[in-house]
Amino acid sequence: MPADDTSIVDPPGDGPVGEVLGLFARRGDGHYGEVVDQRCHALQCATLAADAGATDSLVTAALLHDIGHLVRGPDPGGSYDLSVDDHHETVGARWVAPRFGAAVARAIAFHVLAKRYSCTVDPAYGARLSPTSTATLSAQGGLLGAAEQARFVAHPGFDEAMALRFWDEQAKVADAVTPGIGEFVPILSRLAVARPGATQTTG
Ligand SMILES: [Fe+2]
Repeated sequence: MPADDTSIVDPPGDGPVGEVLGLFARRGDGHYGEVVDQRCHALQCATLAADAGATDSLVTAALLHDIGHLVRGPDPGGSYDLSVDDHHETVGARWVAPRFGAAVARAIAFHVLAKRYSCTVDPAYGARLSPTSTATLSAQGGLLGAAEQARFVAHPGFDEAMALRFWDEQAKVADAVTPGIGEFVPILSRLAVARPGATQTTG
């Protein structure tokens, strides 16, 4: 659980950072089939990225990689159907791109592809997946064919996507203590994209 979540209780207003804090405040308690809730999962993932010395962009992607779940919200009745692909990586990437930039969005967009690739090239990886990640694999497209593998490996976003996936799988430890989301606000603020209509500072 987060050690300090005062920023969730008191989101700092509008803008991309405020939107992120608002989503985690409203929907971060959702579990989506995992032993940890979305807030704890995101904070564990971002902490692992930061501890590994990742760039601001990749730490932000780690924090927001499942934001698509929060943007969509639970299915009616609060359930979550694992047999249907919710395309949360695409939903998340589209939500993040105009707010935190294309590099963050790309790593988020690829984190499911990285799971499919890892399961394809390393059966032992598949055996280590959480039950939910295993259950959603086939709905997400299953294993990759040779051409899909080659395209992904050759993509400039491959290394970051694989790093994010590694932290994603480690970030499901029940009762792990992490910093609160406020710890990541300075990073989010550095990457936040000024949007049309937002107050601009000049001079
Ligand atoms: Fe995740």
